[in-house]
Amino acid sequence: MDETSASSPLWAGRFEQPMDAAAWTLNASLHVDRRLALADVRVNRAWAEALEEAGVLSAAERAALVAGLELLEQEFRSGVFVFQPTDEDIHTAVERRLRELVGPLGGKIATGRSRNDLVATDARLWLMEQLCHLETALIEVQKALVEQAEASADLYLPGYTHLQRAQPILLAHWWLAYFWPLERDRQRLGDLYPRVAVMPMGAAALAGSGFPIDREHLAQRLGFLAAAPNSLDAVADRDFAAEFLFVAAMLGIHLSQLAEMVILFCSQEFGFLEIPDAFATGSSLMPQKKNPDLFELTRAKAGTLLGHLTALMTVLKGLPLAYNKDLQEDKAQVFGAMDTLLGVLPVLAAALRALRVKPERLQAAVSAELMATDLADYLVEQGLPFREAHAVVGQAVRLALARGRSLDTLDREALQAIHPLLDEHALAILEPRHSLARRNLSGGSGPLAVSAQLRAAQAVLARRVILDRSENVRDERTSGS
Ligand code: ARG
Repeated sequence: MDETSASSPLWAGRFEQPMDAAAWTLNASLHVDRRLALADVRVNRAWAEALEEAGVLSAAERAALVAGLELLEQEFRSGVFVFQPTDEDIHTAVERRLRELVGPLGGKIATGRSRNDLVATDARLWLMEQLCHLETALIEVQKALVEQAEASADLYLPGYTHLQRAQPILLAHWWLAYFWPLERDRQRLGDLYPRVAVMPMGAAALAGSGFPIDREHLAQRLGFLAAAPNSLDAVADRDFAAEFLFVAAMLGIHLSQLAEMVILFCSQEFGFLEIPDAFATGSSLMPQKKNPDLFELTRAKAGTLLGHLTALMTVLKGLPLAYNKDLQEDKAQVFGAMDTLLGVLPVLAAALRALRVKPERLQAAVSAELMATDLADYLVEQGLPFREAHAVVGQAVRLALARGRSLDTLDREALQAIHPLLDEHALAILEPRHSLARRNLSGGSGPLAVSAQLRAAQAVLARRVILDRSENVRDERTSGS
């Protein structure tokens, strides 16, 4: 017979009394980690194979365990798996059910391992799979930005600094200014992947398994890139989760900045963009209202994501080696961040694609003063030092403001009185297209430079940074929650 019955905690042997009910509830993590079900089954299966290789299990025992695990997997996939009140966490549930399915032999799966290495292995495997999903969703938002840029032809609008009109920029340049931060986030996902794909299994509780497991082979079997080099670190390391949460928070912040700008531009005061009905909401009181709720929620989710990062970092601070139960709190943060992003990104991609641009409002906002720098540059080309040119144009701007007119409509005499170089050639400079055409250096807002930038954006999108592990991704989708 089994030392422990299938209905008591895995560790019941040394205890005389059952656990206090409320304490049990606080201690249990099944409600969170049940999402690791299929990852846990996969790791168990690979572990049975590793135990056979290490001479711990016979081929027949391994085969019986694998057959049981396959049944169990079917139960999870078809949704008929029944959790028991005694299932403390997903690892307990899987082991308990395996023992029900294959009898006492099921207890052999726990040989030479611990939930400490198991949980960290499952969580990393889950994240490896989900990162692929996340990249797909992120790429859709990037594509939406590229499509808007492509569709914006030669439209221009004011660029802002300090939210004050500054210089004309191409609308395509503006859209792409939100593409590149997301591209950096995507690259960051690719960068962290090899540090997620390190396998703790074989570390057991802390000191390493007492059986000669070939960890490199096991890692390979499970799709990891390496086995963790130190058993203490293997069970204590949650850097992979923290790094993911940082990237999630950074991405959330970029999305919030984009959302904020869309909200501003959709206001009547700007009126540059319009949200189509499918992505807007109304007011229960004011019949005329059309609200950008989805963009506001996108803006707010940055706070939620930053909260997940802060929560985990705070849990990790000052922890002694090696495993501590504090680490159980990691998964709620990782799952929460992933759910938030996978909820926001598809809606945002669709909403961005659907945004309507109002060309007349954009162009009307570009008044002659926005080309003041170009006028100063022109004077520089005529030989004035830039500081002097800046002062001359500054005086002209001041005069225009005093007279309540725009810079390009000041009379010739008044301009000549400021500086003889301010003639009709100079006034011809105050044209948005002229200003844009001067900015074809790489990365600039000139039409040629922006076309090149657009091609560069299209090219980077053609390359995924995270390997498609679609088979495993499918696992998670069917595992339920
Ligand atoms: N549910 C636990 C967690 O998520 C599994 C590891 C439990 N280990 C232990 N020594 N109590 O961290």
